[in-house]
Amino acid sequence: MAEFTLPKNSKITKKGRTYKAEEGKRQKRFKVYRYDPDSGANPRYDTYTIDLDKCGPMVLDAIIKIKNEIDPTLTFRRSCREGICGSCAMNMDGKNGLACTTAIEDIKGDVQITPLPHMEVVKDLVPDMTHFYAQYASIQPWLKSATPEPSGKERLQSPDDRAKLDGLYECILCACCSTSCPSYWWNSDRFLGPAILLQAYRWLADSRDEATGERLDQLEDPFRLYRCHTIMNCANVCPKGLNPAKAIAETKKLIAERAA
Ligand code: SF4
Ligand code: SF4
Ligand code: FES
Repeated sequence: MAEFTLPKNSKITKKGRTYKAEEGKRQKRFKVYRYDPDSGANPRYDTYTIDLDKCGPMVLDAIIKIKNEIDPTLTFRRSCREGICGSCAMNMDGKNGLACTTAIEDIKGDVQITPLPHMEVVKDLVPDMTHFYAQYASIQPWLKSATPEPSGKERLQSPDDRAKLDGLYECILCACCSTSCPSYWWNSDRFLGPAILLQAYRWLADSRDEATGERLDQLEDPFRLYRCHTIMNCANVCPKGLNPAKAIAETKKLIAERAA
C-alpha cells in the first residue's frame, strides 16, 4: 500500500556524529546514513572526511577505508568489488548504483550515501532483500522443459536463439532498478518491479524453455506486470546498461499476441 510519508522512527531527527578529518590535500566529505535497530534511535547522517590521495578511486574504496580506519561499526554489503555480485548497491548522491563501480571523482561536493530507497533497512546501508528475493523465486527462474534432455548432452541453442538472451542474462539482481521505480515504491507488495520482470522475460525469451504459457498466465495480472507505466527510471540507473522497461514491453506484447 502506498505510503507518502516516512514512518516516525525512520525520520532523521538529530545531527549525526562528525569524525575527525583525515589530513591531506584532497579531502572529501562523506555523509553516510546510519541506522542501528538495536539502539532504538532514529537514523542519522554521520560525516567522515578522508584524503583521496590515501584512498582507492571508487565509493566502495572510501567506505571500506572508513570502516577499517575510522569507524568499524559502519555496516554495508559487498563482495566482488567489480560490479558482478550486485551486493554493494546503494544510493549515492541521489542515484542508485554499485558502490564498487561508482567513481568518487564523478560526484561533485559531498558524497551523500543512503541505502537503496523504499526498502526496509536492516542496518546502516544494508536493505532487507527478503521480499525482493521472494518475488524472484515466484517467477520460477529456472529452465522448465517437458521434453527429455538429449542423453549425455546439453540442450543446445542456435547462435541466433542464444543472442536473444543478450541484454537479459547480464542482470546481477542488484535491485537498483526496482528501488528507483516509483510504481515499485508504491506497489511493491504486488507489482513485481523491473528487475524481477526482466528476469521473468529472460525465461520467456529462452528457446529451450517450454513453459511460456504457464509463465504468461502467472504474469497476466493488473498488479504483477501492469503497474509498469514506462517511466524509464529503471533503464536510467541499471549499472549493467540493461533496459528492464523494454523487457516488460516485450512481455506485454507476448500477452497481447496470444490474446489476438
Ligand atoms: S519503466 Fe516501468 S518498471 Fe521501469 S521504472 Fe518505469 S514504471 Fe518502473
Ligand atoms: S536490471 Fe540492472 S539494475 Fe535491475 S537488477 Fe538487473 S542489473 Fe540491477
Ligand atoms: S561488490 Fe560486487 S557489485 Fe559491488
